[in-house]
Amino acid sequence: MFEALPKAMRIQLSKVRESLRTRILGRAILYFRELPSTNEIAKELAVGGIGEGAVVVAETQTVGRGRFKREWASPEGGLWFSVVLRPKVQPKQAPKLTLLASVAVAKTINRLYGLRAEIKWPNDVLVNQKKVCGILTEGQTRDGTLNFAILGIGINANFNIEAFSPPLRETATTLKEELGRDIEREILFCRLLGEVESYYELLQRGKLEAILNDWRRLTGFLGSYVVIQSDGGKVEGWAVDLDNDGALIVKLKDEALVRVTSGDIVKIIHREYPRHVDE
Ligand code: BTN
Repeated sequence: MFEALPKAMRIQLSKVRESLRTRILGRAILYFRELPSTNEIAKELAVGGIGEGAVVVAETQTVGRGRFKREWASPEGGLWFSVVLRPKVQPKQAPKLTLLASVAVAKTINRLYGLRAEIKWPNDVLVNQKKVCGILTEGQTRDGTLNFAILGIGINANFNIEAFSPPLRETATTLKEELGRDIEREILFCRLLGEVESYYELLQRGKLEAILNDWRRLTGFLGSYVVIQSDGGKVEGWAVDLDNDGALIVKLKDEALVRVTSGDIVKIIHREYPRHVDE
């Protein structure tokens, strides 16, 4: 049953407009009480020609989607939005948008709330080892170039963990649970759009190294032994670094280096890399 969120607790667009300091992101903001998925609507708008920077935001999504066609639970109180981007890059560069968004989210949460948010490659942000944000980048190509990309960001903000199913409660958290209070979603939204825009500009100016450096600072698992479920099967080894395409470089037990371009880290074992191999 859809219980209406009291008006005062909904996202106040007037507050957003007052606080937003961006040039491109949020030039148009389309707000909805309920949508199937903000990514879906943003995609339709992008196909219809809406300009770069348009943002679709909803209080709740009925068929919010995650990576690999997974369902994304989107109760009221969360921050669920999608940004239309039109970067002049090759389609294979699209994962960099997820990368920069993960950096923007972790940095914003750390700065605004003093929490230790950490990036879990490729698209999650965790607080206290539990997922607080997921990112889904979807694109459309035309004549071999990226016509547009939809950057979908979902943050578990102002709701109690009981809004999730019991299995999800084991692996997810919300800002409200971590802080013991509600946050101002308008402020989070504006600061986050500002950070995404800054990193997006860095990407457009070819300054990927600066983004990667922030990514390295904000991730907690480099150097750990990880188990990754990828398209090509299971890969396990020491997480070494990200390469310039956003692929994770993993050192296998036999010391071979492999690039993993997509997948999920299903286990992080904080086991140090054997010292003699480094020396
Ligand atoms: C994942 O972790 O698998 C990615 C989740 C992405 C969820 C966001 S919420 C806003 C946007 N709309 C969607 O339907 N999905 C993304």
